[in-house]
Amino acid sequence: MDKILVEGGPRLEGEVRISGAKNAALPIMAATLLAPGVHNLKNAPSLVDVRTMGKLLGVLGADVDHHDHSLTIDTKNCNEHEAPYELVKQMRASICVLGPLLARHGRARVSLPGGCAWGPRPVDFHVKAMKDLGADVKLEHGYVVAECRRLTGATIQFDIPSVGATENAMAAASLAKGRSVIENAAREPEIGALASFLRAMGARITGDGTDAIVIEGVDELFAADFEIIPDRIEAGTFMVAAAITGGDVLITGIRKEHCAAVIMKLKEMGAEITEEGADLRVKGPMWGRAVNVTTAPYPGFPTDMQAQFMALMTIADGTSVITDTIYADRFAHVPELNRLGADVGTDRNVAIVSGVKKLSGAKVMATDLRASAALILTGLIAEGETEVSRVYHIDRGYESIEKKLAGLGAKIRRVKG
Ligand code: EPU
Repeated sequence: MDKILVEGGPRLEGEVRISGAKNAALPIMAATLLAPGVHNLKNAPSLVDVRTMGKLLGVLGADVDHHDHSLTIDTKNCNEHEAPYELVKQMRASICVLGPLLARHGRARVSLPGGCAWGPRPVDFHVKAMKDLGADVKLEHGYVVAECRRLTGATIQFDIPSVGATENAMAAASLAKGRSVIENAAREPEIGALASFLRAMGARITGDGTDAIVIEGVDELFAADFEIIPDRIEAGTFMVAAAITGGDVLITGIRKEHCAAVIMKLKEMGAEITEEGADLRVKGPMWGRAVNVTTAPYPGFPTDMQAQFMALMTIADGTSVITDTIYADRFAHVPELNRLGADVGTDRNVAIVSGVKKLSGAKVMATDLRASAALILTGLIAEGETEVSRVYHIDRGYESIEKKLAGLGAKIRRVKG
């Protein structure tokens, strides 16, 4: 298993280009199942999760080709409707194929994803949405088994705004008979990206970006070309990298409006952030002010930036409090940060981070994608060497992170294992 070695110290300087968004690419790839034909996706990030979704589409009959950030998906021969456990267990986002399979074939058999590193992540909202659209859905032998003649437009109301369930509902409702309204819909930019892709395929969708999405079902959708939006979480991670090292980094290829909550908190901590045309320059405070962060659905502060912000808070001046309202216990990175000399305590979904003056490198273990990023970020300022093992997690969602950081002057390298 590969490891990443980081030598703390250097200020990061230079320019970094942000890749396409994992969490936009995955549901868009799944949505190609809705229309037989050749779909072309540009700016597709080269990530393990994208490859896993490609494999899943392959099992469903698609021909997938990914090179130079161009992803071509030919769904003409997609006649299968079963997403097997062996692939789904590797990536929860596999559940995104449920709505498209059901809408296209009138049946779908998708393995339940199971838990993840930070506890149970149910799919009841996804199931409810398919039922609301008229499908008969059962849970059998660890699989969601759904059937319908043709889905029928309906009002789908979610208890809380779920990104994945909104995506599944939107995709399925696009081919349903009649009008659907998704109430309490998620508003993340990735929802807007999927809506734009579906519109490019011929879907009739309005209201994406608000909490009420209206879909007038159509009889047929067509293959389309689309450019994946930039990854706002990768962008936020590099902003933290600049700030934590007291650096000066120009972040390019981003959509600034998607990063507003993170930018606001970084400024509150003392980072200097200026717009340079479409790009963003982040100058770090090195020792920032303590802040409180509460994660919330978009446009609130993203839970996917919580671990990276904790890295920054470990050396802030004072005590910061993080409350994660999206997940009950997404703090597996805390004991590892404490091994590097941080002072973090947790109580259920709240973490108290008391800033320290110095961190020292150690061997640590990545437990999930964003936790891995937090450990690498902390390694950038910890004295001596930090060895992050199990970095396969990071390859799921960050494209060449060690190369991008090295390009900014970080002393970082991957050791093949
Ligand atoms: N939830 C349910 N039932 C469901 C679905 C969700 O109770 O059927 C709960 C979840 O357990 C969670 C909350 O609703 O407490 C919100 O979950 P959501 O469905 O919005 O999450 P998701 O669609 O599974 C996406 C991202 C995650 C990100 C969350 C929240 C993708 C592929 N994944 O997951 O990204 O944390 O939204 O913003 O889009 C990551 O990239 O590291 C990552 C985990």
